[in-house]
Amino acid sequence: MNTLLLNDNDEDISIACKILNDGGLVAIPTETVYGLGANAFDKNASKNIFAAKGRPADNPLIVHIAHLSQLDEIVVDVNENAKKLMKAFWPGPLTIVMKKSDNIPMEVSAGLDTVAVRMPSHSVARKILDRCKLPIAAPSANTSGKPSPTTAKHVMDDMNGKIDAVLDGGNCVVGLESTVVDVTDEVPRLLRPGGVTYEQLCEVLGDVIKNYEFKDGEIPRSPGVKYKHYAPKAQVIVVKGDFGKYINDNANKYNKVGILCHSDFNAPKNCIVKSMGRNPKEYANTLFAHLRGFDDEGVDIIFAEDIDDKGINLAVSNRLYKAAGYKFAK
Ligand code: TXA
Ligand code: MG
Repeated sequence: MNTLLLNDNDEDISIACKILNDGGLVAIPTETVYGLGANAFDKNASKNIFAAKGRPADNPLIVHIAHLSQLDEIVVDVNENAKKLMKAFWPGPLTIVMKKSDNIPMEVSAGLDTVAVRMPSHSVARKILDRCKLPIAAPSANTSGKPSPTTAKHVMDDMNGKIDAVLDGGNCVVGLESTVVDVTDEVPRLLRPGGVTYEQLCEVLGDVIKNYEFKDGEIPRSPGVKYKHYAPKAQVIVVKGDFGKYINDNANKYNKVGILCHSDFNAPKNCIVKSMGRNPKEYANTLFAHLRGFDDEGVDIIFAEDIDDKGINLAVSNRLYKAAGYKFAK
């Protein structure tokens, strides 16, 4: 298959909509990461998403909408907590898990009786959703297990030849996936930290259960949490404590070392240093691109400086720890 690279002009957006209406796959930009989109009502199109990504069939997809009126076709109940979240954070980087309607195929919800719904704020995503008049099922547009794509080039690196088109809408501003909240229980559950912070959720909802850590033997509420995620080719090790000392003591054991940091220090010559930036927003925005960048540089190992879990850093550290397979050093 020849994958078309489209731009964000009107003509190309119309081409993307035609492909989606015909049951094809188009990667689209959103404010969080690029999504691999298909008609959410079309079970065959959804199956093709799983095939292109190599995604386990039990990991459900997020359904994207442009207007609240579309909810009627997708969910059977919008409760008070869901309404509060929509009012506070939509359009934006928040996904809400609700009871699904029969219109959503089991392929999309991976057999669950719930569906995850998000209204993105990205202008190109909104134009596409508006024009194709469909809810779009879209997971992140990476090969399963790899870091999520934050540029059209990242998508092409993974999906060229496997999908119909990639629509280039520039860099994603948030850079990490949406926050996922399940509101089907009395007390809402945070299933994945993301662009909307835990603190912001608590302000709107009061109590929120943190439910994104997965222990072996448990059945996770969000199937996605049990899979290896965001991993570059080289092993990532998260360093707690004195980062500079750890690097000085350990970098010489390897040929080429990737360093992911947010503070300044002098690294030995065999290190490739990538700074995550000056503030948590930048950390979120640069993390996945840096992890992919280390693949391009062919480093032997990646040492990453640990970060706290305040605000959006909760999402950054969550992705970093997963990328490291929870491997820590002191
Ligand atoms: O920012 C984002 O959310 C991006 C953009 C494209 O919207 N999408 C994204 O999709 O990150 P994906 O498939 O990579 O992650 C979706 C997560 C998975 O962890 C999945 O298990 C969870 O949401 N999820 C989806 N439907 C669910 C459901 N019904 N119940 C619980 N978790 C669900
Ligand atoms: Mg993903």
